[in-house]
Amino acid sequence: MSDRGRSDYIGHKVLVAAQPANTSLAGRPSLSQKEREELQRRLSDTLRGKADGQLSAYFYTEPNTANDPVNGKSYHHDYIERKAYYPKEAEKKLFKDQEDKIEEIAPVSDIFVSLGGGDAQAFSSKDMKLIKASKATTVYLVDLSQEYLDQQERIIKDAIKSEELPVGTQVVKMRKDFTAAVKSLNSEGKFETQVSMCMTGLTLFNMGVHDEINDGNSYRTMINTINALIAPLPQNSSFYITQDTTTDRDKILEAYDAGELLNQWMKNFWLFVQREIPTEGLDVSLFEGRAVVPDAKSNQMQFQFVATRDATFIIGDEVFDVKKGDTFVSFTSEKFGIGKHDRVRDVVREAGGRHANTILGDDGAALRHFRVGQPGPA
Ligand SMILES: C[S@@+](CC[C@H](N)C(=O)[O-])C[C@H]1O[C@@H](n2cnc3c(N)ncnc32)[C@H](O)[C@@H]1O
Repeated sequence: MSDRGRSDYIGHKVLVAAQPANTSLAGRPSLSQKEREELQRRLSDTLRGKADGQLSAYFYTEPNTANDPVNGKSYHHDYIERKAYYPKEAEKKLFKDQEDKIEEIAPVSDIFVSLGGGDAQAFSSKDMKLIKASKATTVYLVDLSQEYLDQQERIIKDAIKSEELPVGTQVVKMRKDFTAAVKSLNSEGKFETQVSMCMTGLTLFNMGVHDEINDGNSYRTMINTINALIAPLPQNSSFYITQDTTTDRDKILEAYDAGELLNQWMKNFWLFVQREIPTEGLDVSLFEGRAVVPDAKSNQMQFQFVATRDATFIIGDEVFDVKKGDTFVSFTSEKFGIGKHDRVRDVVREAGGRHANTILGDDGAALRHFRVGQPGPA
């Protein structure tokens, strides 16, 4: 370690002082050795400017003891609660207003896979309506958040009790990355019958960070992601996705810049890093988080970390130097419009799906329904 690194201990102390007095109750690392190495690699790539957008998988963290300050999930929750986060309300409204149409177009399938259904409110107003329409007898709930999974299961069990879902409907919770979950269901032979799968609430746009499928190009990564999800499904299975349709740059920024909350969310990420990997001199105030749409015509939005001062710090066994104003892209989110650039349809087509239906709501929300595989002979 360099002397310069040591001199930054002051920053470290500031952070420690800001944490709960009884630090023995603060969170314990939750990543395995392999996952820690992966986080270290992604951090290293990001801070050395080698790769953008590799970190969003770590933004949904949960506290793991009572006083653990790490809580990405609650920041995410506050964030999507904002009025400016237009898709949430617009999507909920679409599912409410057009429930009859959804039931009309949804094919019956034995198995339903919900990918990232989110909290109780989101799940009951969106994924649950597709599950009911599918009349599935087995529902797989896939989410990284245990709390969300428990909430989703409760909603399904209540629906079985009130006979909104068939008695005997099986529900299986999978706390796994989407692509890993689909892979394991496939290898267990679960996809022998027609399947319906859904992903709501912009989830596609903030994932695609899985190691094997991220090639650094967000468009290709998205195709690879969709491909990994739908390729194992039998022909004619259904894939539903919601998309927001605005390409209005100001609206996007209003929703995402979200001022201090986004900044807090990004700071939470550094608390998470400190929980998982030994660090020295890494003070959470070292980076400001901000959302930027770099080009007025672009439909890409970046979550950036901007260094607030010159510093040297250590993460794991690596020393990093940053200069005030240095900017790092932690995550790039694609905003796809349904109008001029309906790239979601292109993405699914390239991955081997075919468009079946679109239900348009107000305020730019859309529910897309794709069928898997090419149409068979008429
Ligand atoms: C943007 S939220 C959307 C929630 C909900 N579908 C809605 O419409 O509001 C993303 C959801 O996916 C989960 N998630 C994010 N990345 C994931 C991944 N790689 N694997 C599994 N779940 C993930 C999060 O925990 C969260 O529930």
